[in-house]
Amino acid sequence: MSELALHGARIVVRAGALADAAALVRACADGRRPVVIADANVAPLYAAPVASALGAELLTFPAGETSKTRAQWAALTDELLMRQLGRDTVVVAVGGGVCGDLAGFVAATYLRGVPVVHIPTSLVAMIDAAIGGKTGVDTRHGKNLVGAFHQPAAVIIDPLALHTLPAEHRRAGMAEAIKHGVIADEAYFHWIAAHAAGLLDPSIAAETSERLVLGSIRVKVDVVASDEREGGRRRILNFGHTIGHAIEHLSDYKMLHGEAVAAGMIVEARLGELAEWTLPGLADEVQALCASLGLPVRIGPSFDADAILTLARGDKKARAGAAEYALPMRLGEMNAADGRFALPMEERLVRAAIEASR
Ligand code: GLY
Repeated sequence: MSELALHGARIVVRAGALADAAALVRACADGRRPVVIADANVAPLYAAPVASALGAELLTFPAGETSKTRAQWAALTDELLMRQLGRDTVVVAVGGGVCGDLAGFVAATYLRGVPVVHIPTSLVAMIDAAIGGKTGVDTRHGKNLVGAFHQPAAVIIDPLALHTLPAEHRRAGMAEAIKHGVIADEAYFHWIAAHAAGLLDPSIAAETSERLVLGSIRVKVDVVASDEREGGRRRILNFGHTIGHAIEHLSDYKMLHGEAVAAGMIVEARLGELAEWTLPGLADEVQALCASLGLPVRIGPSFDADAILTLARGDKKARAGAAEYALPMRLGEMNAADGRFALPMEERLVRAAIEASR
């Protein structure tokens, strides 16, 4: 078992942790009344046993990114209000990144904020969404545009849950793991490359899943600990996400987040090379690793460059109407850009990077 701490959140990583999640929630939630939130797919598998062990109600919503809306936030909030749950509530979010973001936003705003415990069951949620306190929903203008920072009371991670995760979700989560290697841990990047095939195997050894999850979480915890509100260094976690969010949105969320991030990292690494910030060859190295994991490495012709650029300008990371990009210098090191950690780039270079990734 490993335990980390981040801004008051206890992060427990242990094979088998789901089996005693109720005891861990009780230990962190200080006599509060738990309510469990999960999507309809995860509910029977993982959330119902946790709810029953806690003696808590289980609220569900339809699975998928299309549920990450203000309407779904309002529906879940109304469910809490109808049950007259008070300020002594603790929301327990069991599931993937959509559930964590949505239920986390419900918790952040319910009665001006009640605690949340995350029990992430997808790779993307374990290594990214559940760590760091970002919550929110999508709007028709783009992804994650309405939300709040709300640090969880605890994050309970059972890497064994990855064994039941559909292959496409395991693969998609690998994109965020690759990102963590690129931005801050070259050795971790090479470890992923050396174990690529095995990491997608559902019968992966528990120790390997745990190592994968911990390698990423250590990077994320270190970055967020240094910059909780994304005033500077946390922006490096957005590598691949300015373009990635745009193409995820343009795909009508048919692409999984990690799939869009894989393609986004390749475009942004090419952009870094064109701007002469990034060591030549890095984009090819990231592309080769993504390809070996079966992640998308090309931007299809249906993703129009103008549409990508328009969405990038409306991204929450944009400043003064200009999209900003976190760019690698070399594997394991990002461009600090005088403490800004992200830079506006000439649109002709962004276009060239998109076209070079067709
Ligand atoms: N997913 C990027 C961040 O948490 O800052």
